[in-house]
Amino acid sequence: MKQINNNNEIQTLALESRRSGKSIALVPTMGYLHEGHLKLMQEARKTADLVIVSIFVNPIQFGPNEDLDRYPCDLEGDLAKCNRVGVDVVFTPTPAELYPDFFQTSVAVNEISQGLCGAGRPNHFQGVTTVVSKLFNLTLPDFVFFGEKDFQQLAVIRRMVIDLNFPIKIVGVQIIRESDGLAMSSRNAYLQTQERAEAPAIHKALTYARKLHSQGTTGTDTLCQAVSNSLHDNIKSPFNIEYIEIYDSQNLTRLDDKISVPATILIAVHLGKTRLIDNLQLSQN
Ligand code: PAJ
Repeated sequence: MKQINNNNEIQTLALESRRSGKSIALVPTMGYLHEGHLKLMQEARKTADLVIVSIFVNPIQFGPNEDLDRYPCDLEGDLAKCNRVGVDVVFTPTPAELYPDFFQTSVAVNEISQGLCGAGRPNHFQGVTTVVSKLFNLTLPDFVFFGEKDFQQLAVIRRMVIDLNFPIKIVGVQIIRESDGLAMSSRNAYLQTQERAEAPAIHKALTYARKLHSQGTTGTDTLCQAVSNSLHDNIKSPFNIEYIEIYDSQNLTRLDDKISVPATILIAVHLGKTRLIDNLQLSQN
């Protein structure tokens, strides 16, 4: 396995691979890798000849009061994990390599970046789409793997790839959870003991909404209120709900009355100082 931190070197390698007829899969990450990330890499490994993983904590997708400075990091451990799942190349650029002096270009996907996480994190998705576009141009992938854990991010990237005609297939991978239901996340490392014990209440609440829906409840307010009540019943640590909303799974528009199309319930909760997101498909129709 190769580690590369230089733009020219990774792009030259990608160009040469393409010229020799090899297909390329990219898995973009911010590191501190867990089983969710590894699942993306395993899927990539099954799909393409050359698997590239990027590890880069992208400063421009963090707001001024967010956790950029304390984002967890373990490069040595990450490299060992990548090696174990058969990754060919790990791209680990520095911020100065990706954002040199005078950098001033951005890529923005407008409407679907605005609700949900975009409402509380105004420049977040622009930071994501900008860095992901750069990674696409540096690694020239045929396939790029993203997790459904970040449901809105996946929708935003799919939109961008269509709108900007990137010749890339985006592959969405299901959420990988801990055995108690908590969606795996690098940020779970921030949770205090009591918070970690209570965090599975988020998935439990979403599962409860899905059950209510399967029993005939279609009102979005009723379902979101049931999730909120379930959280208040099961979490004793201080927490704060950023949003609970139900969206059309296909086009990521908000459903604000009754569910009549395939729908996904999405949530962001601040449990103590840790921001957690999750989502669950409520129905196929
Ligand atoms: P990061 O949070 O490190 O996540 C990298 C990829 O792993 C994303 O596609 C994310 O959806 C996926 N992932 C995270 N937890 C997962 C889980 N429990 N199950 C399945 N997939 C999971 O998302 C980012 O980094 C950044 O925004 C990035 C796309 C790299 C751009 O900077």
